[in-house]
Amino acid sequence: MFPFMKFTDGTITVRAFEFGDEENLHAAIKESLPELSPWMSWANESYTLETARNFVAVTRAHWSNGSMYSFAIVDANTNEFLGGCGLSHIHPVYKFCNLGYWVRTSHHGKGIAGRAAKLIAKFAFEKANLIRAEIVIAVGNEASKRVAQKVDAHYEGILLNRMTVGTAIYDAHMFSLLPSDFGLVAKL
Ligand SMILES: CC(C)(COP(=O)(O)OP(=O)(O)OC[C@H]1O[C@@H](n2cnc3c(N)ncnc32)[C@H](O)[C@@H]1OP(=O)(O)O)[C@@H](O)C(=O)NCCC(=O)NCCS
Repeated sequence: MFPFMKFTDGTITVRAFEFGDEENLHAAIKESLPELSPWMSWANESYTLETARNFVAVTRAHWSNGSMYSFAIVDANTNEFLGGCGLSHIHPVYKFCNLGYWVRTSHHGKGIAGRAAKLIAKFAFEKANLIRAEIVIAVGNEASKRVAQKVDAHYEGILLNRMTVGTAIYDAHMFSLLPSDFGLVAKL
């Protein structure tokens, strides 16, 4: 579908995961488990370097067949690994997707998630022919809700039993980003 891509705003760069990211990815997740694990099912004590290796390989395969686009977030100047974000659950008919993000704990509070969200939403609309990106946030995840608000995502309400994390079931806030938010025209 697409070659592996990268985008930058001068402060952060988002780029397709690369072989060689495994150790940085693993270290960032280990560092951030207390903040990640309440909200992401994959973030738990059993996340190993091998898990990171598998993730990088699988995610590159998904990118190549157009089913999911996962990006590493790195510092645009130092290349330090900062987190991950991506477009998943891409609907082939209705052309919407889920937009997700996480940032390593040592770099929280610097606006990184919002920067990443904007860069990959633009990719979704400009390159991937999508017309809607959904940011689905468990009720209670105030930091993520704040990110969605700060990128001026449209708030559409609360969906019941819309999210699971491990065995926990959550209602979820639904936010959306649209091509028009980036001065683009939605077209099929
Ligand atoms: C959500 C997350 C991606 C935010 O990343 P970030 O780059 O630190 O985002 P920001 O720098 O914009 O900071 C988050 C905002 O939430 C606020 N915030 C943080 N914790 C909060 C809390 N418990 N209650 C209310 N607001 C909170 C911060 O004050 C900040 O808002 P401000 O800029 O108005 O002060 C990060 O916290 C994270 O990785 N969390 C775990 C994974 C996750 O939840 N991902 C999203 C799944 S939908």
